Amino acid sequence: MRRSWWNSGPQNLNIAACFSHEYRYPGVVVTKFLAALSIVVASFAPSGLAQSTGDVERGAKLAYTCLGCHAIPNYKNAYPNYSVPKLRGQHPEYLVLALQAYRNGERSHATMSANAAGWTDQQFADMSVFLAGPVVKAPDTAKPIGKIPEAAQTCVACHGADGIGITPQYPTLAGQHADYLERALTDYKKGGRKNAIMGGFAGQLSARDIKSIAAYYAAQRPSLDAVKRPARR
Ligand code: HEC
Ligand code: HEC
Repeated sequence: MRRSWWNSGPQNLNIAACFSHEYRYPGVVVTKFLAALSIVVASFAPSGLAQSTGDVERGAKLAYTCLGCHAIPNYKNAYPNYSVPKLRGQHPEYLVLALQAYRNGERSHATMSANAAGWTDQQFADMSVFLAGPVVKAPDTAKPIGKIPEAAQTCVACHGADGIGITPQYPTLAGQHADYLERALTDYKKGGRKNAIMGGFAGQLSARDIKSIAAYYAAQRPSLDAVKRPARR
């Protein structure tokens, strides 16, 4: 259970059913369940993941073809048209989970499924530490930019009010392209991405909520960025 709770099916983790108790948490309302969940996750996920550490040098060689899309600022996915996600500054542990989801079909995206096919978890780890580079961290004095939308108040338990994922398995959203965030949330809601946790949360959002939450997180700084090409040697 602990080892792969985030991959467990909706039958094991019915978050929607737990939205009953509320309490205040740095200025916002969060469910008791969520706070408990994030504590459990924060304390057990890292050891439970059994994730190998990546090697940047190996990753730079393996991820060469990925740069054609992920190292070009504002590059677009065609049909439908939305921005290719920023990976620089993201948690590498999360990038590995995302790549596994494309490889095993939990995320359906033809190009990324093709790009994720045939690699080992070690190769994913290597590419992820290279692509991510230094992880985005907010200074203690950082304040969220703009007013957090009402519908985003449950999200902060895992993604922070500043958009920095609170554990290495939770994606950082700060400064991510708004159109990509919208696309991802719509996919969790409609089933293009199957994820027990996010399916529950995104399912509760209207299209308007999704737009305002995406705009809010896209505006947060410090920010994710396009991958940096390694200097030639
Ligand atoms: C043709 C362009 C293209 C290439 C080449 C490409 N990607 Fe992607 N990548 C995308 C797009 C578009 C998405 C968003 C897909 C979606 O909507 O789920 C994405 C998503 C991702 C994500 C998920 C990011 C997140 O925030 O969840 C990771 C990780 C990733 N790519 C890594 C790679 C790696 C590693 C390679 C090389 C082996 C690669 N990509 C090659 C276009 C590309
Ligand atoms: C219990 C923790 C938790 C909560 C609460 C939560 N998320 Fe997530 N979120 C995750 C995890 C874990 C993932 C990665 C899922 C995957 O592997 O696809 C994720 C993924 C995402 C992504 C995709 C990021 C990317 O780079 O592709 C977006 C966008 C997102 N969440 C937004 C939200 C919003 C908006 C809310 C509130 C309505 C929310 N999340 C609530 C844990 C959480």
